[in-house]
Amino acid sequence: MRVRNIIPAACSLLILALALWLQPPSSGASPSTADWRKGYVGSETCGSCHEQKHQEWRQSLHSRMIQPAGNHILGDFEKSNTINHKGASFRMFKKEEAFWVEEKQRDGKQVLYKVDYTLGSKRNQHYISLRPDGRMRVLFPTWDVRQGKWFHSSEIIPTGHHADVSIQYWNQHCYNCHVSQKDQGFDIQSNTYRTSFTETGINCEMCHGPGQLHSERMKKDPDTLDFGILHPSSLPPAEQMMVCVQCHTPRVIVQHGFQPGKNYYDYYMPTLMHFYIERWYDPPIWPDGRMRRFATEGAALWQSQCFLKGEATCITCHEPHLNTIKRDARYRDTDVLCSQCHKSLSQEAEVAGHTHHPLGSTGSQCIGCHMPLETNMMQDQQRDHSISTPVPENTLKYAVPNACTTCHTDQTADWAVQWMDRWYPDRPKGSTRRAEAFVQAQQRDPAAIDALIAMLKDPSENVVIRGSAAGFLGEYQGEKAAQALIGALGDPEVMVRAEAARSLSEVQSPQALALLRKLLRDSNRVVRLNAVFALVKMGILEMKGPEADAFQRAKSELEQFFNDFPDVQDIRINLGTYHAVHGRYLLALQEYKNALKLHSESRHAPKAAYYIGVTYAQLGLYNQALSSFEKTLQLDPDFRNTRDLMEQVRDAMKQ
Ligand code: HEC
Ligand code: HEC
Ligand code: HEC
Ligand code: HEC
Ligand code: HEC
Ligand code: HEC
Ligand code: HEC
Ligand code: HEC
Repeated sequence: MRVRNIIPAACSLLILALALWLQPPSSGASPSTADWRKGYVGSETCGSCHEQKHQEWRQSLHSRMIQPAGNHILGDFEKSNTINHKGASFRMFKKEEAFWVEEKQRDGKQVLYKVDYTLGSKRNQHYISLRPDGRMRVLFPTWDVRQGKWFHSSEIIPTGHHADVSIQYWNQHCYNCHVSQKDQGFDIQSNTYRTSFTETGINCEMCHGPGQLHSERMKKDPDTLDFGILHPSSLPPAEQMMVCVQCHTPRVIVQHGFQPGKNYYDYYMPTLMHFYIERWYDPPIWPDGRMRRFATEGAALWQSQCFLKGEATCITCHEPHLNTIKRDARYRDTDVLCSQCHKSLSQEAEVAGHTHHPLGSTGSQCIGCHMPLETNMMQDQQRDHSISTPVPENTLKYAVPNACTTCHTDQTADWAVQWMDRWYPDRPKGSTRRAEAFVQAQQRDPAAIDALIAMLKDPSENVVIRGSAAGFLGEYQGEKAAQALIGALGDPEVMVRAEAARSLSEVQSPQALALLRKLLRDSNRVVRLNAVFALVKMGILEMKGPEADAFQRAKSELEQFFNDFPDVQDIRINLGTYHAVHGRYLLALQEYKNALKLHSESRHAPKAAYYIGVTYAQLGLYNQALSSFEKTLQLDPDFRNTRDLMEQVRDAMKQ
């Protein structure tokens, strides 16, 4: 009878299924795919009437993120054209007008990749190869545009403890933000992709929404004032920013089909700090809330007083069409970006008094101290968009960089503290609270609980910090965390409610049930999904009474979420477990097998094999269970309690 133990083990595994929300952005085909493209006309059509905007846009980086290989290749495929990496070697060469990468792996295996697309042109250029199964592989050799040399992409892509290198498939992880009106076209049966998109960049309609209605209307009646197209300036600041944030902030996609003007939180959930708890070796966010990796500007600006009190949005400082910084005259003296609002600091005397650096020194530029070069990724640094003030104490204690020693590289953080105490005696105290709490929380140290709760409840903290606090509280069992999280279910901020609901799926408390039920009617899909997920994890599979309808609807939304991302291994595993808790073991088995089939070399593969074993055991098919557990151990010799489960199965077989 001991094999029974496996069943609770499997159920509690849904708890681990929290990884459900922990996926890199991805996407997949669903029956409604064709609809998303309805009503789009493409940039050429827009340009036929808006010539100037089109001209500007054509010069922008937005218009050329990926490009068909050919004239757009920046890398040297002729002279200095080999690299070595951990025993593998790569040769890049040109033959008959085509570009190729020859990869010789450590074990001698040789693979030839044709370059079909370039990706990027500013700092780095990746090369994409379309494989026979439709996967668009991001090849390892990458061109450093500024230094004019090759490097292996694992130098900039975190791989963690699992592997030397991580293979990226552009049409699984990347394409959402790099092209327009895309259709992933993944088919789980054949495990192939037929990915398509309308333009190889960010076209007009990615920011304005579909323009067919407008184009036709303007053709027929050029004098109408009912334009039928989104003017982003007509949106309130927070929503207007989402036009850009759809790509300029890491997030999980919860539903396909976002268009500017629609509710962002019906489609996306930004990945806040807790999301990276297992990847803390290379998180995109510093523990004080500021950004560490690139393309995170939205989550940074959400924290800035300039946005919160001043309503500064991306287009306050960036021209959306010409877009490219090099071509924007304001960036020759960036202080003008700030003095449009900080008028008093446009007077020279005031500036000198404020910055304590000679006018004209780089140390006197507003962005020197308030948007330091601390965001790092492409072997090069980018400007921190949280527009905050330097806190060298965080460098001393938590290795978070500060503006002063980002420039004064020969000085210590202590030195900066001393000068700041002299120059800015009234600067805010207590600004190490965030870093202290989040560094502890990442180690699941109970000492963090009080500070996390204090930040969660503090209305003067920004939503990224409060949401992250709610996320980390999910790591702590017990009433204290539970009560704080329950309180946060009624928070006015979507991200806080969503994180609190997700955390309550971990810190399960019966007292949360009533409020979670209420959230089934939340106006934001991401909150409803997290609420129903928490309820299901608490074992509530059906609901009677007034909430029955809302519960059913939220459940179908959750099922749609599972089904809309057919190529994401973790989501397949979670769908399997969702079936399993409903007693649908055969369907569960099928999803776990799908997960394994997707990517048998990935770090999720042992998990898929493990669940296949668990499900076979639940079905009483012990031989199959054993062989799946063996497979699990081949993939990862220490995977969870696999060995214990094998013992249990062997015992059961004896009986
Ligand atoms: C047949 C000509 C025509 C086409 C095609 C066309 N537009 Fe327009 N559009 C106009 C005219 C005319 C106006 C009103 C005057 C103006 O603002 O230039 C306008 C206005 C706009 C506005 C401002 C709306 C407002 O509320 O003020 C936006 C934004 C816009 N167009 C975007 C687009 C985009 C994006 C496309 C392609 C999907 C497009 N247009 C295609 C003619 C056209
Ligand atoms: C959430 C949206 C999003 C996703 C998903 C995404 N990117 Fe990007 N990517 C961006 C944005 C925004 C930029 C522009 C950042 C900048 O210019 O600072 C960018 C820029 C880049 C650049 C820099 C190009 C240059 O010109 O230097 C590279 C390379 C890149 N991305 C690769 C990838 C790869 C590989 C993936 C998938 C593994 C990926 N991106 C997924 C949004 C995204
Ligand atoms: C990266 C997002 C983005 C892209 C791409 C983009 N736009 Fe815009 N567009 C905006 C924003 C934001 C505004 C409002 C702010 C402004 O007017 O500068 C705007 C405003 C406009 C306006 C109204 C201008 C006015 O004076 O009222 C027109 C017309 C327009 N865009 C046309 C186009 C066309 C045509 C394209 C493609 C060739 C395009 N846009 C591409 C974001 C974008
Ligand atoms: C208060 C002004 C301001 C606001 C608001 C602002 N930016 Fe910036 N942004 C800058 C400055 C300054 C730079 C650095 C330019 C340079 O490199 O010289 C920059 C750089 C960037 C870069 C290029 C990063 C790099 O170095 O490669 C991107 C991408 C970007 N901003 C996107 C955004 C987005 C998206 C938003 C809105 C969420 C936004 N910005 C809001 C001022 C601003
Ligand atoms: C559909 C995704 C998407 C949207 C929407 C989008 N961006 Fe971008 N943005 C990108 C990508 C990808 C790049 C990198 C392009 C490259 O390097 O070739 C980029 C680059 C940039 C840059 C860097 C330019 C430079 O010179 O380095 C700025 C600034 C920027 N975007 C601002 C904005 C603003 C402002 C908006 C909203 C009005 C916006 N973006 C909307 C994807 C997007
Ligand atoms: C659209 C208007 C606007 C723009 C543009 C703007 N700010 Fe601000 N900023 C504000 C407002 C409003 C506040 C809040 C002031 C207050 O609390 O009294 C603020 C606050 C700040 C603070 C205090 C932050 C804190 O955490 O206390 C700093 C620093 C700052 N801004 C720097 C800048 C810099 C540097 C730039 C240019 C890169 C800039 N701002 C651009 C409106 C703006
Ligand atoms: C050498 C570093 C440095 C430079 C350069 C700098 N600041 Fe500051 N700024 C600080 C520090 C430190 C604080 C916090 C001081 C305090 O609160 O007493 C601060 C605070 C602020 C604040 C919030 C408090 C207030 O005074 O309202 C604003 C707004 C601000 N700075 C804007 C600017 C602008 C605009 C520029 C460019 C003209 C600029 N800063 C340049 C270091 C700098
Ligand atoms: C963007 C770069 C930059 C930033 C940020 C910056 N400085 Fe400086 N700093 C300089 C430069 C350059 C000089 C030399 C003065 C000149 O331009 O003649 C300088 C000079 C100084 C000096 C006097 C000379 C010395 O080295 O003793 C002190 C003290 C100083 N900075 C402290 C700070 C502190 C404290 C901060 C943070 C609040 C800071 N700086 C931020 C660039 C910077």
